[in-house]
This record gives sequence, C-alpha cells and structure tokens, in this order.
Amino acid sequence: EPVVAIVVAAGSGSRLGASVPKALVEVGGVPLLLRSLARLAAGGAQHAVVVVPPDAADAFAAVLERAPLPVTTVAGGAERQDSVAAGLAALQQMLGEQEVVVLIHDAARAFVPAEVVARVADAVRAGADAVIPTVPVTDSVREVDDDDGSHVIDRARLRSVQTPQGFLRSVIEAAHAELAETGTPVTDDAAAAEYLGHTITLVEGDRRAFKVTEPLDLVLAEALASEEG
Ligand code: CTP
Ligand code: MG
Repeated sequence: EPVVAIVVAAGSGSRLGASVPKALVEVGGVPLLLRSLARLAAGGAQHAVVVVPPDAADAFAAVLERAPLPVTTVAGGAERQDSVAAGLAALQQMLGEQEVVVLIHDAARAFVPAEVVARVADAVRAGADAVIPTVPVTDSVREVDDDDGSHVIDRARLRSVQTPQGFLRSVIEAAHAELAETGTPVTDDAAAAEYLGHTITLVEGDRRAFKVTEPLDLVLAEALASEEG
C-alpha cells in the first residue's frame, strides 16, 4: 500500500510561547514543520496532508512551498483529535476508499529518525492494525491519590508514546468516526484504535522523536540541528 502522512500542525504552541505557531518556529533556520516532513519523506511517506491553524493558512502555505514531498493542506480544529479528523476527511476526499498506510505525526516531533518512520510503516504493512513507537520512562513515577497521598508505579512497565503512529486508513477512520459520535476524548490516535478494540503494536521509538513542547526543548533541538550540519 502507499504510505501517506497526516501531520498535525494546527496547535498554537502556548507552552512554548513563541510569536508564531509552534510548527513554524525555526530551529537551525528551518521550521519544525519542514524538518518533520523531511523525516517522514525519508522514512517512506509519499504524500502528506498537513493540518494547519485556520488563522495562519497563508504563512503555512508560504513555508510549504519548500516542502520535500507533495502536500495537501487542510484547516485544523480546537483539539488535536479534531485536527486529526480533519486530516482523515481530507484524505478521504483525495483517495476515496483506497486503502493506504496512514502515519499520523506531530509536527513538533521534528527530529524523529527516518528509521523510526520506516519501522512504523513496515509493521503496518506486515499486518498490524495500529503501531506506535515508544521509549522507556526514565524518571521514577508516582501516582497521586485523591487524598493527597501517593504511591509508586513500577517504571519498568511504563512506556512514553511518540509519533508517527501507523494505521491502515480503514482502521483509524472508523476509530475516529466512533469517537466523534460518542464524544470520547483521547490524547493520541492509538487510544482511539484501542477504544474500538484493536490491538496496539509497540515498536522501538527514539529519544530524538521528543516533542518540542517547552522553551528548554529548543536547546536540545538546536543542538541536534547543528550536529546534522
Ligand atoms: N495540534 C493540532 N491541533 C490542535 C492542537 C494540537 O494539530 N488543536 C498539533 C500541534 O500542532 C502539535 C501536536 O498536535 O504538532 C501535538 O500537540 P502539542 O504539542 O500540545 O502542541 P500545541 O497544542 O500547539 O502546544 P500547547 O499545548 O503548548 O499549546
Ligand atoms: Mg496542545
């Protein structure tokens, strides 16, 4: 099957606090969005649907003239989940019922290695319904109780979830449609697939697929960008 990426870039980046939407923030002179697109293309994506903030469509269009693969843009929604749904709708417009491998990726994970992208796509092609890259949790973790107490969680059993997450289009479309109908909120797309009873396949992620979220993350991002040359 062809591999298509949905890149969600419609958030404002309130925690980063930059003067432009987070996906347009430049690291080493290159916007995070273009870095993400290059990694997805290198990992095998043939086309990308980029979900952009409705009030910044022109600025995104200007940047996307330099996209390293063919791109379709669509306006996002209030929550990430709404933006993914908009991306899936655009894909349906484009492809009708054709089955494809869909990689759903946060624009803010701009340094994801191409090998991780390919690993996710390969696992979907090999027959998995839903595939996520994960990394072990390195901090000790405690769960806070209602009564102000807390208890330790066994870190060895925990994983941090990254993107791109990979699905057959039919699987993730049905999952998002079901969530929209029932009004169930989720923070990632694998949770949507899990809600419909699909098994989630974990593949090895990479620390470099971290999400640029807070100003400190830009320090690491700049270092990675200069390492690359
Ligand atoms: N995203 C989106 N539409 C939204 C919210 C988020 O497309 N309504 C995208 C962001 O652009 C980002 C990814 O989802 O690439 C992960 O979200 P996050 O890191 O939380 O980005 P923001 O929501 O922009 O940041 P913040 O929560 O700090 O405002
Ligand atoms: Mg957010």
